[in-house]
Amino acid sequence: MFELERFIDDCKQAAASDGAHKAITEIVTRCIETPDAVMSALGEPTRAGVNKIYQADNLTILNLVWGPDMYLQPHNHEMEAVIGIYTGVEENYFYKRTDEGLRQHGNRPVILERGKVAPLAHDTIHAVKNPLGKLTGALHVYTGDFFETPRSEWDADTLEERAYSVENTMRAFEESNLKLDEMQAQ
Ligand SMILES: [Fe+2]
Repeated sequence: MFELERFIDDCKQAAASDGAHKAITEIVTRCIETPDAVMSALGEPTRAGVNKIYQADNLTILNLVWGPDMYLQPHNHEMEAVIGIYTGVEENYFYKRTDEGLRQHGNRPVILERGKVAPLAHDTIHAVKNPLGKLTGALHVYTGDFFETPRSEWDADTLEERAYSVENTMRAFEESNLKLDEMQAQ
């Protein structure tokens, strides 16, 4: 049984501890073992969005819903993260900084399905795609302030680095919702 308030409290306690990333990974793993319970507590997603559950200097918890076929360009977080999928699929494409600029690391994406958890290191750079024609929902927990920490994103086509923009990210989700509206109108 997944209880949101309990989950938030457990994450807050973990975030304040020395081994925050490991402890949060264990908490998310335990919860995501029963993805349906997580979804019934959060509600079945109906729109793409970055839904904030909790935000502090040392912890951000998001209910992140990817729109159908949605893609988000490479970005970093400058903090550790844990992703746990409760519905749908997330494809994660990993990148490395090189002398020649940003390069994809490995040929294939890491595919995270419902019930799966992925911890991301402090310096991870990834792009995310929802390969499905329906919504994907995931708990994303970060060991810092996701919205206020300066970090980078890279242009999807040129892979040129620029300052991460929360507004750009929010716009991508809104555009995805416009497509969703069109799909549902057909
Ligand atoms: Fe990310």
